[in-house]
Amino acid sequence: MEKIVSLCKRRGFIFQSSEIYGGINGFWDYGPLGAELKRNLRDTWWRAMMREREDVVPLDATIIMHPAIWKASGHVDTFSDPMSDCLVTKKRFRSDHVELQSGVVYTWTGAKDDDGKECADSISVLLAQGKPPESARKVGVQFYSQRGLTNPQLLGEATAKVENTRAFNPENGAQLTEPKPFNLMFHTFVGATASENDKAYLRPETAQAIFAQFKNVVDSSRQKVPFGIGQIGKAFRNEVTPRNFTFRSREFEQMELEFFIQPDEVIEAIYGTVSPWSETADLSTPQPNWGWEMWHRYWVSQRVAYYKGIGLGEDVLAFHWQTKEELAHYARACVDILCQFPFGIEELEGIAARGDFDLTQHQKHSGKSLEVFDEEAKKAFAAWSDEQRAALLEKKLSEQRAKGKGGMTDADTAMWCDRLFKGFYVPHVIEPSAGLDRLALAVIALAYSEVEKTDTKGNKETFTVLKFHPRVAPTKVGVFPLLKNKPELVAKTREVYDLLKRHMSCFYDESGAIGRRYARQDEIGTPFCLTIDFETMGEKGDELKDTVTLRHRDDGSQERIKISELLGRLLPLVQ
Ligand code: GAP
Repeated sequence: MEKIVSLCKRRGFIFQSSEIYGGINGFWDYGPLGAELKRNLRDTWWRAMMREREDVVPLDATIIMHPAIWKASGHVDTFSDPMSDCLVTKKRFRSDHVELQSGVVYTWTGAKDDDGKECADSISVLLAQGKPPESARKVGVQFYSQRGLTNPQLLGEATAKVENTRAFNPENGAQLTEPKPFNLMFHTFVGATASENDKAYLRPETAQAIFAQFKNVVDSSRQKVPFGIGQIGKAFRNEVTPRNFTFRSREFEQMELEFFIQPDEVIEAIYGTVSPWSETADLSTPQPNWGWEMWHRYWVSQRVAYYKGIGLGEDVLAFHWQTKEELAHYARACVDILCQFPFGIEELEGIAARGDFDLTQHQKHSGKSLEVFDEEAKKAFAAWSDEQRAALLEKKLSEQRAKGKGGMTDADTAMWCDRLFKGFYVPHVIEPSAGLDRLALAVIALAYSEVEKTDTKGNKETFTVLKFHPRVAPTKVGVFPLLKNKPELVAKTREVYDLLKRHMSCFYDESGAIGRRYARQDEIGTPFCLTIDFETMGEKGDELKDTVTLRHRDDGSQERIKISELLGRLLPLVQ
């Protein structure tokens, strides 16, 4: 990881934000190459998820929205992490991220000092493995000194064994406060008064704007369920412990799709049955009789195919299917796509089947209908007998009652069925939600490799090569004249450079030996290099005239190619 962080700074991929002022924790800037890499990743997502599909449209919403959105979505009340403070250093920890520790805990019920001053606060300290009890007592003394005692004498010492606890500061053993929820949303004030009434939030996810604008998109885009709305944009979370470089940042970018589908009841009414999912199910092309489970699996397979297309094959991905206990109360399923990072296998993207929770919440809180009308559903239910309708109502009632507090009231369930039979419903949603910064980090980390080369004098040198997939590489082609002091070579090279730069990002370089120039491009992951030499100028006859050397980064192989064939050859590889 250290090598990657250092390369990112040295070659201009990622810098610490505000570095000249000492930096700001959890914020990162992308330098020239990082900005290109990120833009390429953004483009690949946009293309795969929207441009190449007929059933997904984009949205570009504001970062600050009406605060009621975050009340409706549940973020105001529940978007928090548990947080604990060290009783001695006051350092803040995310309670569930503190490492598990076992050992002997020293507890004191209070302390007094030579002046007769007493403090009755108690403190516990976990004795670090292999350390003498004095080291724990020293931390205890520190605690009481901070409470105004000079030379505190510890009182009522007791010891106990603990196992696998997260209740102590791993750095000094001091007790941590009980976990308290800490809301992760950054807030600000809109307008000049800056009162509580003007409080607004920086969005912690891009998804909610999609739900809030759902009706406008339906009314203006002529899309019909099933269809999706995608968005790429900044999100902000005041993470308790930002860490692992850009992996957990406080400002980051998300690429989210909300794909709206018909409720399974509608599919059943129209097609008689919902297509069941199985390991061998064909997920290649969406079918009209798919219910939420097939759509969910379909999007998992689409996302895996996307990652493969930019060089992250299944060999570097893993999947965590959330258990019932882990799932949010409204979610039907959620799978985390994990990736091999240098610090472990961690989440890259979550794909959740969220039912109709989000739109229903916004419908309730805004008082505006977010239902769609489905002519086919209306027709299908019109053909149902009274018994069939009563059976569906019964099934829905028992389903909702079983959910307890999270379920609909009987009256709301009856209303839901009534609206459904008339062809109106709130669509359900499948949400593939990916982090752009995490993806950039994964791509850089997985591309990182080192090769050792021996020169003609037998000296060994280690070179870094970033083996980016050509689609995401920040620079696609390095274009070099063999010699910089031959005007005709330079002019021809400029011609080739001008031809290519309209279609892909190229880098013109004439300084240093060709080998050095290759190495510089290898280090930033440029997949192809072109050298224009005397053969290009026709010195060895017409056959080689107007051909250039095309050098491939990963195996160093070289071939001659006609300038006129360059675009046709390179474009399909880099786009
Ligand atoms: N709308 C659903 C949602 O926001 P999430 O799992 O909280 O779900 C989705 O976030 C993705 O956003 C994550 O899989 C991750 O890639 C990215 N992400 C979340 N928090 C992040 C952070 N603090 N820093 C960088 N990326 C983050």
